[in-house]
Amino acid sequence: MTSLSKPTISSRSLPLVGSRLLTSHLRQCMTECRESTLSLFKGMDYETLCCHAHPDFSPVGWHLGHIAYTESLWLLERSAGYLPQFPEYHRLFAADVLPKVDRVKLPNLAEIEDYLGSIRKQVFAYLVIAPIEQQERLWRWLLQHESQHCETIALVLAIKATQETAQSSSFISYPLPPIPDSAMVQIPAGAFEMGHEAIAALDNERPSHRVNLGAYWIDQYPVTCEQYRLFMQADGYKTAAYWSVEGWQWLQQRPVTQPFYWSDDSACDLHPVCGVSWYEAEAYANFVGKRLPTEAEWEKAAAWKSAAQPPLIYPWGDEALSPSLCNYGHVIGQTTPVNTYPQGVSPFSCHDMLGNVWEWTSSWFKGYPDFASYPYQGYSQVYFDDQHRVLRGGSWATRSWALRNTFRNWYHPHVREIFAGFRCAQDAY
Ligand code: AVJ
Ligand code: FE
Repeated sequence: MTSLSKPTISSRSLPLVGSRLLTSHLRQCMTECRESTLSLFKGMDYETLCCHAHPDFSPVGWHLGHIAYTESLWLLERSAGYLPQFPEYHRLFAADVLPKVDRVKLPNLAEIEDYLGSIRKQVFAYLVIAPIEQQERLWRWLLQHESQHCETIALVLAIKATQETAQSSSFISYPLPPIPDSAMVQIPAGAFEMGHEAIAALDNERPSHRVNLGAYWIDQYPVTCEQYRLFMQADGYKTAAYWSVEGWQWLQQRPVTQPFYWSDDSACDLHPVCGVSWYEAEAYANFVGKRLPTEAEWEKAAAWKSAAQPPLIYPWGDEALSPSLCNYGHVIGQTTPVNTYPQGVSPFSCHDMLGNVWEWTSSWFKGYPDFASYPYQGYSQVYFDDQHRVLRGGSWATRSWALRNTFRNWYHPHVREIFAGFRCAQDAY
């Protein structure tokens, strides 16, 4: 059981046994997470490590060092009160010192891995004596921090791959039935409990609160490449009428004619569109006479079962994530057709809510009522600036620790190199 969403370990009733169980559970999660982190770097050359593939994203080697730096800062310095083992790395690997362009002169991979290893050794020594029940939230935050940086590492490598010669398109084609055209479900009006307060919940998921929604329709599947191709063929990228004023302005400034991760291969027809900005998602929704869902609508469609039951952690229920339920954690390493995981369906028959591609919502990233920053304001709060749109659901590259119905991601609306697609919604009258 690797899910972090349920407080499965009853540390209250059995203090000693409980905290030992928690300690070994955390050690195991951190080890598992680190193994997948390091596997992304196997055999990587120095040029790739330092490559600044896109101005919005730091080089992959920077993210790797920053993971160690963050673990050291929060656990060894701030919690244990130790002096930093490697003070010289503060300047390079802190999130708020060097601009991204100056993060290209990095130690080599072996040195960064030694840094990770030294910090991790001290962290595990500290874990034995740490007051873990008071620190559980912090340790679980760190797991999610590393997970999120690893998704950024994966997308920087994907950006770099698009820049290298003609890619061999190797989309896996599955023998699946076609999905019905524009399949939507109606979600009935009523209140639901939005957000999450389990120990692993991040600051921006809390507090959970009641949200009342009118009835609405939502797509059962993310928008597929086949559907999106109709927009392209209808001159969607040349027709101002489909675009918002800001979206059209954005489009005029760059030569965008298709999603960032696009292939004309018909093997991709049932794959979700991947690599669109929020503006492109908005334009497509206008093209088909729909709109993007709000994040509340997205979450209710994923998590709500009935007024009599608490919301589900995952669309399929509270059963831990596994590769038969959705496409996540690099298990497959690319997108899959949107109807690959019928077992992962939500109570209202929405498919592919978790994994595969992040889904843009129409909502600005904001704090819920009575929001409180954790562990620092710069994690979420500084982004409550009406400049970032919320994405939900995670992608094929998202680790289990950052995947659940309530997890919120956010980016500027122009960002299109992330593994992001969308599904549409409509009012019900
Ligand atoms: C929520 C994915 C946009 O990577 O910039 C990592 C997460 N915050 N370290 C990012 C994050 C601090 C953040 N995103
Ligand atoms: Fe970070």
